[in-house]
Amino acid sequence: MSINYSERIPNNVNLANDRTLQRALEHWQPRFLEWWRELGPHDFEANDVYLRTAVGVDAQGWASYGYVKMPDYRWGIFLADAIPDRKIGFGDAFGQPVWQQVPGEFRSQFRRLIVTQGDTEPASVEQQHLLGHTCPSLYDLRNLFQVNVEEGRHLWAMVYLLHAYFGRDGREEAEELLARHSGDADKPRILGTFNEPISDWLSFYMFTYFTDRDGKFQLKSLAESSFDPLARTCRFMLTEEAHHMFVGETGIARVIRRTLEVMKELGTDNPEAIRRHGAVDLPTLQRYLNFWFTSSLDLFGSEVSSNAATTFANGIKGRPDESQYEDHVCADATFALDVPDGKGGVATDTVPMRNAMNEIARSAYVRDCEIGVKRWNMAIKRAGVDFQLALPSTRFRRSIGAWAGVPTDPGGTPISREAYERQLPASLPSESDRAFVRSLMQPVREPGKMAGWIAPPDRGINNLPVEYEYVRLG
Ligand SMILES: [Fe+2]
Ligand SMILES: [Fe+2]
Repeated sequence: MSINYSERIPNNVNLANDRTLQRALEHWQPRFLEWWRELGPHDFEANDVYLRTAVGVDAQGWASYGYVKMPDYRWGIFLADAIPDRKIGFGDAFGQPVWQQVPGEFRSQFRRLIVTQGDTEPASVEQQHLLGHTCPSLYDLRNLFQVNVEEGRHLWAMVYLLHAYFGRDGREEAEELLARHSGDADKPRILGTFNEPISDWLSFYMFTYFTDRDGKFQLKSLAESSFDPLARTCRFMLTEEAHHMFVGETGIARVIRRTLEVMKELGTDNPEAIRRHGAVDLPTLQRYLNFWFTSSLDLFGSEVSSNAATTFANGIKGRPDESQYEDHVCADATFALDVPDGKGGVATDTVPMRNAMNEIARSAYVRDCEIGVKRWNMAIKRAGVDFQLALPSTRFRRSIGAWAGVPTDPGGTPISREAYERQLPASLPSESDRAFVRSLMQPVREPGKMAGWIAPPDRGINNLPVEYEYVRLG
């Protein structure tokens, strides 16, 4: 179904046919806009930004590009087309028809999942509230705003489900999504990573590469759901999400390219010399990577989880890309898991496969993260530099699950608490690393110009040149 843009809330769910729902969402809309003005991108409300807007949900040309002032962006409700005769793809009800309503007995589980996903969307916009002031280029500024408006739309996606399928509880949860705030002492966002400040652009690229990718895998799991409206919502969100990870991957690649240029120019790999020249040395980049990757790993939850087993058994949340597996029921299957043996070593635990669903999703996520790291390393190698970036072990610096609080080195080998504390400055950004990266954050706002710590992108947006005026600062 095409998207109706003549309505106050653009949608392809026939909102006009359900007056009560329409009124409830129209009541929520001004509160959303108020939240956007207060905690969305600081300033720039009056500037034209070259943004893409969804105009359809099919693979060909769902996006239209043009100048929009961000508060006028058409946030709406878009579901991917229904798959005719779709059947439940996993769990105890495998093979039965999917649900168009939430079964009463699974209501609270569904609500919790939708609220948790919904909470991350505005959280990331809040985390990036001030970044526009230090943009390395207009191209990057535009990408930041594109990510921000789409996270705002993802909030709409979850709020639609809450309003349409969860009655009064859902409406209350929708209010709460605007009441919690990233980093707020009294009412923080639900998940830890979404309360970490993103106050520099290196963190922004790391966040969009590693944390948005967690979002991709959560959405992939929910896109398998037996509750069809949730599955269709998430399938469309995934098409938007891809751009966020592109921003992260190419952002980090451009930082590396610039660093390699500076290293070549100076003929040194000395971090101090590279820093004096205004570029980010590779060890610092590795420390930022360690921070955001490990923080994002916790978002998948505990390695062994009875909750994950229940949501899988009930057909609520599947594995990412469920169709790749042969056994979709996993009634008797087991999974081998590395756990601390309690004596400073590693043991293998065999657990029911259903209880290991979080770990299965996390492993798929880690494999996906590795693709970008390989590409970055190829660029480093081609430049003749003897340095390789690496993802730390999933055991390193964990706060949730089997390895929570267990001291290991970045490779995942258990070490003493003292040894752990000693190696921290080498493996995580120190206050002085952060201060240095912050010192680089001087805004560059001339079309086509780039900050000295980052190389230009290979190409512009939508086939336009890099020097296009992506944001009219006027
Ligand atoms: Fe999102
Ligand atoms: Fe995203």
